[in-house]
Amino acid sequence: MDLQLTGKKALITGASMGIGKAIAIALTREGCDVALCARNKDRLDVVADEIRKASGREVFTIAADLTRAADAEAFVQASHAALGRIDILVNNAGSAPGGVIEHLSEADWDQALQLKFMGYIRCLRHALPIMVAQGGGRVVNLIGNDGVKESYWEIAPGAANAAGQNMNKALAGQYGRHNVSFVAVNPGPVRTERWEGLVKAMARDMNLSYDDADKLAPRSIPLGRIAEVEEVANLCAYLASPLAHFVNGSMIEIDGGQQKSLMDQLRDR
Ligand SMILES: NC(=O)c1ccc[n+]([C@@H]2O[C@H](COP(=O)([O-])OP(=O)(O)OC[C@H]3O[C@@H](n4cnc5c(N)ncnc54)[C@H](OP(=O)(O)O)[C@@H]3O)[C@@H](O)[C@H]2O)c1
Repeated sequence: MDLQLTGKKALITGASMGIGKAIAIALTREGCDVALCARNKDRLDVVADEIRKASGREVFTIAADLTRAADAEAFVQASHAALGRIDILVNNAGSAPGGVIEHLSEADWDQALQLKFMGYIRCLRHALPIMVAQGGGRVVNLIGNDGVKESYWEIAPGAANAAGQNMNKALAGQYGRHNVSFVAVNPGPVRTERWEGLVKAMARDMNLSYDDADKLAPRSIPLGRIAEVEEVANLCAYLASPLAHFVNGSMIEIDGGQQKSLMDQLRDR
């Protein structure tokens, strides 16, 4: 299937590893030129070189900490200047501390919302006027299934994700008349560089050994395994494409049908 992405200009946040890197690889493979950001520019530039060599596409990089409003503005404006348009914005840079309410400090809650929610808002605030002026655009928001499948040991990511899902739908209602459409992608557990850290936190908060926690998440997924980054990236490439432009305000789950509430029951067995 031709995704009709050749020559499209895409911005991807948090693209130096994990899902963001996989999306950058998938979009350039489909013919997009991309602008990527992350805080660590050295690591980002190594990835950018890899992608340039593999795809032959234009890859612009800039260091940005999206918890800072000025960095988000600089990322969007410099990327627009470098690429000439913004057809696609992939909001991906995000994480929020896991943990039960008793362990979460004010700073933890602030961190959860500052990057995972406000980081997305900041990029949107600068990208949307550009998309409107050029006659349209596409926004893909990487959210997470915690927003709809709540769990008490991931209450902060759940809150940030629920806020993101609400924003995704609300903006779809507002910007359709400008031909800008939105989609939210809700992964469950995905094998990224930080999977080990997530399992450690889950073990601590659910009072389990590391090995037991590592086995618990796959047991809550009917397919019996967690996702690979390429599976999420391939879905995002299709959703970013003009073929999926009419998928607007929707949330697409990619979590193997995870039944998260099962994790609480399974922990005692
Ligand atoms: N992995 C999962 O199981 C999973 C499940 C559901 C949802 N998600 C969502 O999917 C997205 C990607 O997750 P991931 O697991 O691929 O993440 P990851 O492996 O931790 O990668 C995060 C990326 O974001 C960058 N980043 C981190 N903090 C940043 C900041 N303040 N400003 C700008 N960039 C920043 C990182 O680079 P630097 O450190 O150099 O900044 C890196 O490139 C996130 O929104 C996450 O919530 C992931």
